[in-house]
Amino acid sequence: MAQPLPVHDQTSDFAAAVRAGLAQPQKIIPARFFYDRAGSELFEAITELPEYYPTRTEIGILSANAADIAAAVGPGRAVIEFGSGSSAKTPLLLRAIAPAAYVPVDISAEFLQHSASALAADFPGLPVLPVAADFTAPFRPPGGIFGMPRLGFFPGSTIGNFAPPAAIDLLRSFASVLGAGSWLVIGIDLAPGPGKTREALEAAYDDAQGVTAAFNLNLLHRINRELGGTVRVQDFTHRAVWNAGLGRIEMHLVAVRDTEFTAAGQSFRLVAGEHIHTENSYKWTLAETQLLARACGWNPYTAWADTNGCFSLQLWQRALGIQEP
Ligand code: AVI
Repeated sequence: MAQPLPVHDQTSDFAAAVRAGLAQPQKIIPARFFYDRAGSELFEAITELPEYYPTRTEIGILSANAADIAAAVGPGRAVIEFGSGSSAKTPLLLRAIAPAAYVPVDISAEFLQHSASALAADFPGLPVLPVAADFTAPFRPPGGIFGMPRLGFFPGSTIGNFAPPAAIDLLRSFASVLGAGSWLVIGIDLAPGPGKTREALEAAYDDAQGVTAAFNLNLLHRINRELGGTVRVQDFTHRAVWNAGLGRIEMHLVAVRDTEFTAAGQSFRLVAGEHIHTENSYKWTLAETQLLARACGWNPYTAWADTNGCFSLQLWQRALGIQEP
């Protein structure tokens, strides 16, 4: 049985982020605000698009290698998933490794409750102990897994949505939360290479059906819905571009004409061509991921990738000798 959770209200954070982000010379809205109910549904639709290769590629790699993960980590672990598992990936991992408990950690209590209950129904007898918390900040694992060896699960290349310094802090904090003797299974989307063109990468973030555009533009609808905004959404268009120098896909909302609006009690004006930067999705080379692991207190144990070298699923083992929490 999954336990009831307190509700976290993002509205005041959103108002503060919009006021601060739109007042800057380069306007920004942080990507974490994509995920209201409409945005979460649009993201689920993105994961099924023909152009968006990461989800199906990661599922393929995980299915093919779950037995190897199980052999390396052994049974009886508490699996802590950073972000609540709404996808097919979590059951694939749990079925393979015979865990002792499952702990999904997510800021959205509503989403978490729903996915935790669904998972608990599929795994009768497995303690499911959801934690409503922002996993980018220190949080306390539930008492029910005290003393259990741990396995972190961080699929979907969510790590790519963190700039390198923040990614390093996050992976170090995972090492600290998971503790001595732990492992981490992490999905990392890879930089363009011989089997992965820049065009294919950009198409994954600018699909033919316009679902990613709707996901990006939903931020403006969300401003109108939640912050009393007067944004004319038709004055903006979606743009996704590979920034080779910084190794990341960037998403922007570009003003197609001069436009003005109010939101969260303030007025804003953009001239045609001006844009709001809404997301970065960093892509790493395999060599960089190995350095990243080591820099964060992890020893890379295995890195699997699909034959085109599009996406990588990796198993890392916590390094000895890093400072205990
Ligand atoms: C959640 N995250 C890993 C996705 C990504 O690929 O960066 C978010 C996304 N943005 C546009 N499409 C998908």
